[in-house]
Order: sequence, then structure tokens, then C-alpha cells
Amino acid sequence: MFDVAPWFHHQQVARRIQFICSGCGAPSSKWSGRCSRCGEWNCIDEHSPGPHRPYGEQACPLAEVPLGDTASTSTGIAELDRVLGGGLVNGSVTLLGGEPGIGKSTLALQIAATRAARADRVLYCSAEESPGQVAGRAGRLGLSGGDLWLSATTDVDALCAEVARLEPAMVVVDSIQTLEVEGTNGGSTARVREATTRLVQLAKQRGLVVVVIGQVTKDGELAGPKSLEHLVDTVLSFEGDRHHSLRFLRSVKHRFGPTGEVGLFDMGPTGLSPVADPSAVFMADRATGVPGSVVVPVIEGHRPMLVEAQALVCPKAMALPRRTAQGLGQRRVSMLAAVLEQRGRLELQESDVHTSTVGGVRVAEPAADLGVLVAIASARMARVVPDDLVAVGEVGLVGEVRRVADLSRRLNEAERLGFRTAMVPAAAEVTTGLELVRVTSVKDALGWLAARRLLSATAA
Ligand code: TYD
Ligand code: MG
Repeated sequence: MFDVAPWFHHQQVARRIQFICSGCGAPSSKWSGRCSRCGEWNCIDEHSPGPHRPYGEQACPLAEVPLGDTASTSTGIAELDRVLGGGLVNGSVTLLGGEPGIGKSTLALQIAATRAARADRVLYCSAEESPGQVAGRAGRLGLSGGDLWLSATTDVDALCAEVARLEPAMVVVDSIQTLEVEGTNGGSTARVREATTRLVQLAKQRGLVVVVIGQVTKDGELAGPKSLEHLVDTVLSFEGDRHHSLRFLRSVKHRFGPTGEVGLFDMGPTGLSPVADPSAVFMADRATGVPGSVVVPVIEGHRPMLVEAQALVCPKAMALPRRTAQGLGQRRVSMLAAVLEQRGRLELQESDVHTSTVGGVRVAEPAADLGVLVAIASARMARVVPDDLVAVGEVGLVGEVRRVADLSRRLNEAERLGFRTAMVPAAAEVTTGLELVRVTSVKDALGWLAARRLLSATAA
């Protein structure tokens, strides 16, 4: 992949250097009568970089490079600040990607209005919706205007002119796909790239916070170029199951802090509200006393949360047995069913296996393997897993149960929510108040399950 970090750095350096020696070209951050490099007198010229000047031709010693100002401003939205590691940085461009209807415009409007309510001027430029529609939504969300300005222009030059006139502290563009750039008549990829480049220049020149929405197609690609991600400083991905109200905000790329953190929101009638205790939400309407349900402590971003994994095993409906997965990896579930058959001697060839997470959560962690596997076995064997048990461990192809990262934090979360027992890899080293069921293999787990209460075939 093409990395633009050095290019970006040159740009930063060039933007901040104010004085250059006309003799040797040495840059310096303040004026002096004599060049400290070549010793020439009266050769230092003030230098103001223009937008299209070629920059960074001359290298400069690390010690002389002025540090970039990456102080961030809190967005006032705690879950967003968590993802950004503080807030939004002046002079930076943040790309907010997500599928249509997931809530990007709602989030962007909340970001804009929250900033505007603090007496900072914000320009919200939406060609996706008319200013009337945006104003209507702001009214429904109870967002009072503050210093929020709306525009519906689709032309980058017009947008730049408005920014010059209004001098906002933040600009929101909804969406990058709607922006037109005069002179680019290439495909949409070229246009979207050019529009993004212009917004990056605008942000850097004026020290603006720019938030750009990017539509993502069904298969998860940013419509137009994935390569947009290289041009911007931060890429946030807004995800969730449209049939559920839970939304995940992830940082995919972040030049000013760590990536991988996750923010959680609930999409309700008054917009997005933070979900502070996701485990409690997921556990609230949990099925108990039935086979096929196991609680799994997963780690999303850096925080542990409890998720219910469910399985249903029934006689196969077609010639080939089916394995379905909602919120879980399809291949992972097929693999777990195969391991149960081959290593656990559990007959599944004549059965369809359906699996799902509850609440619209997507779990990709191998650490969820053991829980999903036990849920399938529980459904197949008609044995109920106790309500107060969580299961965590990675399952390998030879049926071994492997250790997982962050076990203590996972178990602490389970303990906090009142769980008493945890099925864990035998080799796990952990101190916990939970009673541990240690398993080395899939066979161990099945043996433990076989000793549980058997439900009648009809109840199963
Ligand atoms: P929207 O922000 O328009 O999504 P995007 O910009 O990603 O396409 O919101 C999409 C859906 O969210 C919309 O179908 C209705 C729903 N919604 C709510 O549930 N609550 C709200 O307060 C708002 C504004 C929208
Ligand atoms: Mg939208």
C-alpha cells in the first residue's frame, strides 16, 4: 500500500517554515541577519507557502523541524472522543464511512451542532439533503442552531469561497461523492480523490477541522476509491445491523492516536445516544433455561463486553447440511461444526446448524470459538448451559482449546454482571472470583456438557 505519511510530513514542514536562506536554502523558524548554515549575511527571506507550491524538496535536520500542532478539541460526544483518543485535531480531515441509512448524517449533524453550540462557527455542507431537510432533522433531534451554517453546494470552489467568507472552525461535507470539481472529467474515482485532496488542502491551510462523509457500498468498500483513506488523517467506520438500534464507531486509521477503539451508540427517535454499559444492554433480555445459548465475554476495541451466542440445530432441510451465521463469521462456524464432528464425535452431518449473536453485534474474535461451539453442542445434545456461566477460548483444528488475550478483563466483566462460572482454556493463568471450568479440548467441553441436565427431546 502507498503510504502518504512522509508526503504529509513534508507538507506540514513546508507549511510552517517561515524563513529560507536564499544562498543555501536552509530553513529556519525565525528571521536572523545571518544564515546559521552557510554564514552568509542578509540572505534570509520570509517565505509564505502557496497552495500549489512544490514543497519539501530540501531536507531539513530533524531537530529543526517544528513540531506539528496536534492538540485535539473534545467533540463533546464522549463515545466519539474515546474513538479519537481525545477529540478532533485542527487542520485534519476525518472520513466517516458507512452504509446508507446507518446514521452517518445523524452523527455528523450531532458533531456539527455540538461544536456550534460552543460558539464555534460550523459550516455543514450537505448536497445529499436540502438545508430544509437538515434543519428539520436538527429540530427533531433537539439540536439548537448555535453558530451552525447550512449550505447545499456541490461545487468545491464554491465551498472554499464560503469557507473564506464565513471562516468556520469546522466544516462538515455530506457526502464526498456529491462534490463536483471543475476540470475533472475522469470517472467518479478521480473526482472523489480530487475533491478529497482539495479538502485536505483547505484543512491544512486554514487549520480547520474537516469531517467528510463517505458512502460505503454493500460489500463494504468506500464507494469510489478505497485509496481515499490514504489522503485523509483519520478514517472512522460507522457500522451496525440496520434492524437493530446498536451502532459501532471504529477508527480504521488515525494519525493522531491509536486505532482499534470502538464507540457504541444507540440510534433512537432523538438521534444517537451513547451506550455506556453494553453488557447490561445485551444481557437485559437474554434467554435462560434453554439449550443453545451461551454468554461469551468478547473484547471490542479495548473494552470487554458480554454477548449472547445462540445456536439452533435441526434436521437438514436439503441434501447438503447448512451452517448459517448471523453476527459471526460463516467460515468460522462451519469450521467449529466440523471440529465438533471430527474431534468431538458429535453427529451433525444430518443437521442444519444456525448460529447468531443477539442484539446486532458482530463478533470476529477467535476467542468466541469455545462459546459458539458449546452453544451448538448444547443445542444438539439438548443440554442447558447454566445461566451464570460464560465461555471463552479459541478452538483449533485438532480440537484443542487455546488461550486468549485479556482473559482477566473478560472475566472481571462477567463477574461485574453477576456471572459465577467461566469455562476457560486449561492452560489459562488468571486470578478471578469466578469458579473455573478448565478444558483442554473440545472433548473435555462435551464431557462437561454431557453431565448436565438432559431436556426431553420435545423441549429441545
Ligand atoms: P441517516 O443519518 O440519514 O443515515 P445515513 O446518512 O448513514 O444514510 O439515518 C438513517 C436512519 O436513521 C433513518 O432511516 C432513520 C433513522 N433515524 C433514527 O432512527 N433516529 C433519528 O433521530 C434519525 C435522525 C434517524
Ligand atoms: Mg446521509
